[in-house]
Amino acid sequence: MANGTFEVSADATPREILEVGIRAADGPVSLACSFSLEDVAIIDIAYEAGIPLGLFALDTGRLNEETYEVADALVERYRLKIDWYFPRHEAVETLECDKGLFSFRESLENRHECCHIRKVEPLSRALRSLSGWVTGMRREQSVTRSDLAAVERDDLNGGIIKINPLLNWTEEQLLEYTAIHHLPQNRLLGQGYRSIGCAPCTRAVQPGEDARAGRWWWENPEHKECGLHRR
Ligand code: ADX
Ligand code: SF4
Repeated sequence: MANGTFEVSADATPREILEVGIRAADGPVSLACSFSLEDVAIIDIAYEAGIPLGLFALDTGRLNEETYEVADALVERYRLKIDWYFPRHEAVETLECDKGLFSFRESLENRHECCHIRKVEPLSRALRSLSGWVTGMRREQSVTRSDLAAVERDDLNGGIIKINPLLNWTEEQLLEYTAIHHLPQNRLLGQGYRSIGCAPCTRAVQPGEDARAGRWWWENPEHKECGLHRR
């Protein structure tokens, strides 16, 4: 291990990355699942390889109906159990009573506050009992992700292992895997959405636009992170 990252060959497959990461974690490992194509592909890869992987999801209270449909389809197909985490209700009540339902559009500070309450704090509870977590992030997705490591120590989350098995996949490879294996996918993807988070902070993109252009579309690309993946 050097600089908190683990040795993984540049051409390692997602399955090999998962195996290296799970060995390094040496304890319970779960996928953080937003029900994206990436996360569903990881579930399928782990399932087909017989790799034991837990699954948790952060229900922000603002997800699209179509996202819950994917969750349901996964439970049906893989017979898996999802550990759902919700925000602290007192924090959401105070936020909505004091600042209204769309405060996140007013400033970056307000947006971070909402993401903290609805995602980051629940994530810290989800990770508390884990030795490692898996994400569906890819390098290609954003300027903020271009230097992702396959397996790294997550010092901001208690030093547990963070695993990014699809880091080197292109969107094309992902779409191909999804099609070949007939994986469940969010119906919104057929309506021009290419990256899906909370409903009020996600919109469809135009042809030629960046895949994440529809996330927090009123912000600059270098701000488009919710705090789940601080490094
Ligand atoms: S975000 O930071 O911009 O919201 P993005 O939607 O790209 O993240 O997702 C990247 C990865 O973060 C997903 O593949 C998943 O591992 C994790 N993630 C994002 N949102 C959630 C969620 N609501 N619940 C669990 N994991 C999530
Ligand atoms: Fe709040 Fe939007 Fe962040 Fe969801 S993505 S937690 S609605 S600011």
